[in-house]
Amino acid sequence: MEEKGLIKQFWVAVVAVALLIHVSVSVPFVVLHGITAACSDPTNANFTQLLMNLSGSQGSCLEIGDGFFASMLMPLTQQAEIACEKVKQMKELSQGYNIVGRSQMEQGNLVARGLIEFCDGGPPVYNYISLGGPHAGISSVPTCGAQMPGLVCDAFDALVKADVYSEFVQDHFAPSGYFKNPMDMKRYLENSKYLPKLSNEIPNQRNSTYKDRFTSLHNLVLVKFQNETIIIPNDSTWFGFYPDGQVEPVLPANKTALYTEDWIGLKTLDAAGKVKFVSVPGGHLEMADHDVLKYIVPYLQNQS
Ligand SMILES: *[C@@H]1O[C@H](CO)[C@@H](O)[C@H](O)[C@H]1NC(C)=O
Ligand SMILES: *[C@@H]1O[C@H](CO)[C@@H](O)[C@H](O)[C@H]1NC(C)=O
Ligand SMILES: *[C@@H]1O[C@H](CO)[C@@H](O)[C@H](O)[C@H]1NC(C)=O
Ligand SMILES: *[C@@H]1O[C@H](CO)[C@@H](O)[C@H](O)[C@H]1NC(C)=O
Ligand SMILES: *[C@@H]1O[C@H](CO)[C@@H](O)[C@H](O)[C@H]1NC(C)=O
Ligand SMILES: *[C@@H]1O[C@H](CO)[C@@H](O)[C@H](O)[C@H]1NC(C)=O
Repeated sequence: MEEKGLIKQFWVAVVAVALLIHVSVSVPFVVLHGITAACSDPTNANFTQLLMNLSGSQGSCLEIGDGFFASMLMPLTQQAEIACEKVKQMKELSQGYNIVGRSQMEQGNLVARGLIEFCDGGPPVYNYISLGGPHAGISSVPTCGAQMPGLVCDAFDALVKADVYSEFVQDHFAPSGYFKNPMDMKRYLENSKYLPKLSNEIPNQRNSTYKDRFTSLHNLVLVKFQNETIIIPNDSTWFGFYPDGQVEPVLPANKTALYTEDWIGLKTLDAAGKVKFVSVPGGHLEMADHDVLKYIVPYLQNQS
């Protein structure tokens, strides 16, 4: 009898320890939000909480500057540097972490890639889940509408018409860092300060460290929204884009030079089965709970 009791206590202890280990080794995640947004917005706060509830992993929304204005006006290079300094100071991330990038019209995802590729001395990133990210750039100003605040699209439109690749615009308006006019590749490559570097597009300036870091991801989940209207072309969320010097047809990711010449390791990751090209119903960032459960949550439950 007594022995049975002991055996039972032993197994209860084993289970308790296993649970403790599970909790303590589950990889934390950070959420990066989009333009004209802030971590304190109810939608971002809720989303982070929802992912924590569903995955059982610790998560936090990483704020850059004051959120709203910083996301719009601070150049992406600087946003990525701030994000890098922040993650280095977060002790809970020191063993590595996962990233969920949200892109209200983009940006969270381009900062996320900056964090993965540019952050010297930062903790490793395991899984990166990208929701509606303009990975290959955007070539048109989105139409103002419910999902796009008028302030942003109006300003963007005016700046693009003025000169999106001028030093002033590049330094003062974040979206200029990923505006890619396929009919003006020369100026894009010479003057755009963010995306050409991030995508290793500049022929004599490709940095293998960026590629090595991106290739070290365990999973890259690229979520595209079937009714996407903010990101033009919508295939940019999967790294698809127009051929240089043409405005159609859009090339799928694996027909672009970025992929075939493997500038950042996308091809290597894909060949290893680590890239998930996911398409879900809904407009920009409108993701049903069952899709969140299927395409995000499993990647936040990995053990280190
Ligand atoms: C936040 O989540 C709560 C509980 O799930 C819900 O009632 C509320 O409507 C959500 N708010 C927003 C702004 O999404
Ligand atoms: C998360 O779980 C808590 C506790 O069960 C609940 O009160 C809250 O509404 C949930 N939030 C979301 C966004 O699901
Ligand atoms: C490539 O990037 C790494 C990491 O930021 C940096 O240390 C290195 O100097 C860069 N190499 C070149 C050739 O610019
Ligand atoms: C996505 O882009 C393709 C062309 O690249 C277009 O045919 C399709 O209608 C677009 N989808 C939406 C929802 O705009
Ligand atoms: C390119 O991607 C498409 C899906 O977008 C796939 O059907 C095709 O097999 C791929 N081609 C190569 C060469 O991998
Ligand atoms: C997508 O757009 C089509 C055409 O406008 C519409 O009929 C459909 O309801 C939309 N689907 C979602 C999930 O928003």
